[in-house]
Amino acid sequence: MSSKNLDTLYRQVIMDHYKNPRNKGVLEDDSLTINMNNPTCGDRIQLTLKLEDGKVADAKFEGEGCSISMSSASMMTQAIKGKNIEEALKLSKVFSDMMLGKEYDEDDLDLGDIEALQGVSQFPARIKCATLAWKAMEKGVSTEKEEQE
Ligand code: FES
Repeated sequence: MSSKNLDTLYRQVIMDHYKNPRNKGVLEDDSLTINMNNPTCGDRIQLTLKLEDGKVADAKFEGEGCSISMSSASMMTQAIKGKNIEEALKLSKVFSDMMLGKEYDEDDLDLGDIEALQGVSQFPARIKCATLAWKAMEKGVSTEKEEQE
């Protein structure tokens, strides 16, 4: 596929997640709630995570933000559901490397739609938009991990 076609495809994937967000909402019961905002624009996300037996049993998000931040949140929740905490953190590291334009090691991880965001690395001002939800997830699972250790 030419890079122009790939760009178009990636743009479509991003807009699809923005217009039809996966896992939108708030988890009730004994879920973890993480609030985070992007200091450069004030946009915010509320992520709720249900962690069970060292796994991300469920994840939902609410928030207001640009298409990049909201589509990234949608993709992130989709990607981490069912993963164990280590895998979720590994995915986050891969995503962070992708945003920094570094080589990233997918290993045996399924990146799914996340790859559609790789073009964001060309726009430094938007990187904070793309990483907002991931930072919230890292904060949530790391807190839980520390409590277990
Ligand atoms: Fe605010 Fe993207 S402009 S999160």
